[in-house]
Amino acid sequence: MKVLVVGSGGREHALAWKISHSPLCDEVLCAPGNPGTAEVARNVPVAATDLPALVQLAKSEEVDLVVVGPEDPLCDGLADQLREAGILVFGPGTRGANLERSKIEAKDLLERYRIPTAGAKRFDHSGRAKGYLESLTEWPMVVKADGLAAGKGVYVCDTLEEARTAVDAIMEERRHGAAGERILIEEFLKGEEASSFAITDGETLLILETVQDHKQVEEGDRGPNTGGMGVYSPVSSVSNRLHRQIEQRVLVPTVHALSREEIKYRGVLFVGLMLTDAGPRVVEYNVRFGDPECQALVRRMKSDLLPILLATAKGTLDKIEPPEWDPRFVVGVVAAAAGYPGSYAKDAPISGLQEAAALEGVEIFQAGTRLEGSEIVTNGGRVLCVTAMGDDLEQARERAYAAYDLIAWEGKFCRRDIGVRHQGKSGEEYALDEDPDEVQSETHRKAQESNVWPRT
Ligand SMILES: Nc1ncnc2c1ncn2[C@@H]1O[C@H](COP(=O)(O)OP(=O)(O)O)[C@@H](O)[C@H]1O
Ligand SMILES: [Mg+2]
Repeated sequence: MKVLVVGSGGREHALAWKISHSPLCDEVLCAPGNPGTAEVARNVPVAATDLPALVQLAKSEEVDLVVVGPEDPLCDGLADQLREAGILVFGPGTRGANLERSKIEAKDLLERYRIPTAGAKRFDHSGRAKGYLESLTEWPMVVKADGLAAGKGVYVCDTLEEARTAVDAIMEERRHGAAGERILIEEFLKGEEASSFAITDGETLLILETVQDHKQVEEGDRGPNTGGMGVYSPVSSVSNRLHRQIEQRVLVPTVHALSREEIKYRGVLFVGLMLTDAGPRVVEYNVRFGDPECQALVRRMKSDLLPILLATAKGTLDKIEPPEWDPRFVVGVVAAAAGYPGSYAKDAPISGLQEAAALEGVEIFQAGTRLEGSEIVTNGGRVLCVTAMGDDLEQARERAYAAYDLIAWEGKFCRRDIGVRHQGKSGEEYALDEDPDEVQSETHRKAQESNVWPRT
């Protein structure tokens, strides 16, 4: 088979790497890819945003499957266009991608199907939004731009004044462009955040292993948010019981909703959750893998990923055995360029990649890199992600940082506390109400048991 991976980040390097190991795979193409993907795929210089050129490429190369990494082309309709051209694609069409593209549409679906989420009001007029804010007595509140805002459209506001400023920034100053035509004002949820990853063809649900990223730039979860500074898997602080709740109250009802709405959702369902005292609540949906969560997940997946992607694209996921997972731990440390997530320097030559990759259990996924002659140089804020596998979290961490330390460029930095267990409540304390199913005994719920809906 010939597979085209769309995108150029660490997530796409990880996907191309995993797919290239499939015995079913003859060739992987990556558009546009990066110097890392070039080691496992043939890079084609077509931008991930150039939809007509991507469809043309898929046709002329006669690829058997297209795997779309980032959300932008999905929101713009790449999957729909490929399907119209008769090409199999892993990734939802625009109706499905609306779950990520529009926070209001996602909220509509959540409410319609009674999936637990923060209570919210919708506004398309800043005056009325501010009038509503003035009537509120409890703070903080959350103001959200409806559309895609590169992770910057959400304002957690402690006071009325802050919330007014947020509404003006989004709706009047249009800081996030058209994404700010409409807003949500929603209830502030207290708790720890968690993510849940599943693959679905819109009918069958395949829940992936647990994985946790670190969003903030500084150690101890301080400083501004980033695309993700590191990742670890599995996440043992989330109990079996809580997993069951997330599955039965969020994931299964979401697939049910997609099916009822006839959305034919074929791709990744990535749910952002708040673990509140009253149980898990959906904060947001994303319609693609997280980066760097994807890197950790593919490292731990022992089964062949390609048949799963293919069956998802065909709508035959019910015929697929759930994947087998490596029980060991993976830690992924993102190496970033000085200044990130603000402005940062580019074009610094990178050394030590081969020595680092040769260490036991280590695999390096490139993101913001570029070839300058025969030399790899930095070309982004998050430059690469060093992943390492270990028998426990500590060994995985040691290996990841040992490899990280062998890599050098001017201005390189990372967080040193990736995978250090956070000191929050245990999962048991969050799952207060009745457990729907008490049969679990293992520490980490196996995906084998989770291909649960529907059983036809
Ligand atoms: N209702 C809420 N209560 C508390 N925090 C929230 C709420 N909604 C969002 N947040 C915080 O804001 C962050 C970003 O919000 P999210 O909806 O995930 O948007 P995006 O990822 O598109 O920026 C969340 O990860 C969470 O920390
Ligand atoms: Mg988010």
